[in-house]
Amino acid sequence: MAKRQTAPAVASRKVAQGSDPLVMVTAYDYPSACMVNASDADMILVGDSLAMVVLGYDDTLSVTVDDMVHHTAAVARAKPSQLIVADLPWMSYHVSVEDTVRNAARLIRAGAGAVKLEGGLDRIPMIEAIISAQIPVMGHLGLTPQSVHAMGGFKVQGKNAEAAMQIAEAAKALQAAGCFSIVLEGVPRRVADLVTNSLDIPTVGIGAGPACDGQVLVFHDLLGLQDDFIAKFVRQYANLKSDGITALQEFVGDVRSGAFPNDAESYHIADAEADALGLYGSS
Ligand code: KIV
Repeated sequence: MAKRQTAPAVASRKVAQGSDPLVMVTAYDYPSACMVNASDADMILVGDSLAMVVLGYDDTLSVTVDDMVHHTAAVARAKPSQLIVADLPWMSYHVSVEDTVRNAARLIRAGAGAVKLEGGLDRIPMIEAIISAQIPVMGHLGLTPQSVHAMGGFKVQGKNAEAAMQIAEAAKALQAAGCFSIVLEGVPRRVADLVTNSLDIPTVGIGAGPACDGQVLVFHDLLGLQDDFIAKFVRQYANLKSDGITALQEFVGDVRSGAFPNDAESYHIADAEADALGLYGSS
């Protein structure tokens, strides 16, 4: 088994210092984690995008700590070589420092090697408390989906100089608080460039252009498992949804025509036993 990736190893992966770009892919269950594990990706994110791509909600707000623990444990059972980063869901790190640390610990006990949470300066006390419990934290700035109502929708952030500076300052504060890396989501590529160049820890972009130290995509987006909405920044590397529907339709056709199952796909008993049962003929 390959050696498991660690948060301290990820923390030193700056492209400007000669590192290969980091690659992170989401996974939410055992088979998706096995697939990512068979690739050379560095990290698996058990994202709260679980809410939308697996559980069918319209946003990420409905997913609970129990849901995240359940899915993190399923991913961990694949024993991937990637670092497993689990998302702290909305309201699991907003109420009290004690609850925040307890919730982060539940994700670690489920098999994660780090947790991710969204937000900037307001979250610093929570981040420091989690890190002082020896749990690595990945930050998440820019378009933070848990703030969908506050942002007025899933909108690109940092589009004017003042908003971009706020993101850059928040990134510095997250680094100072001890985050080992930061996801930058939905920001202009030049803003991601500015932030990436101002940090010693790596940035991992999604809809943030090529200047980041790594990239993350949602499993269902990159494999074409969903086509409800395909964001501008998504590149689909397969069409598993349409391939799957074609396969299901072939199965239906084969059952209806009698082509499935055939003799090789059936179990048999010895002729003598069939005779004893009074069964005659080829089946
Ligand atoms: O939940 C998720 O999948 C994420 C990525 C979009 C970074 O947070």
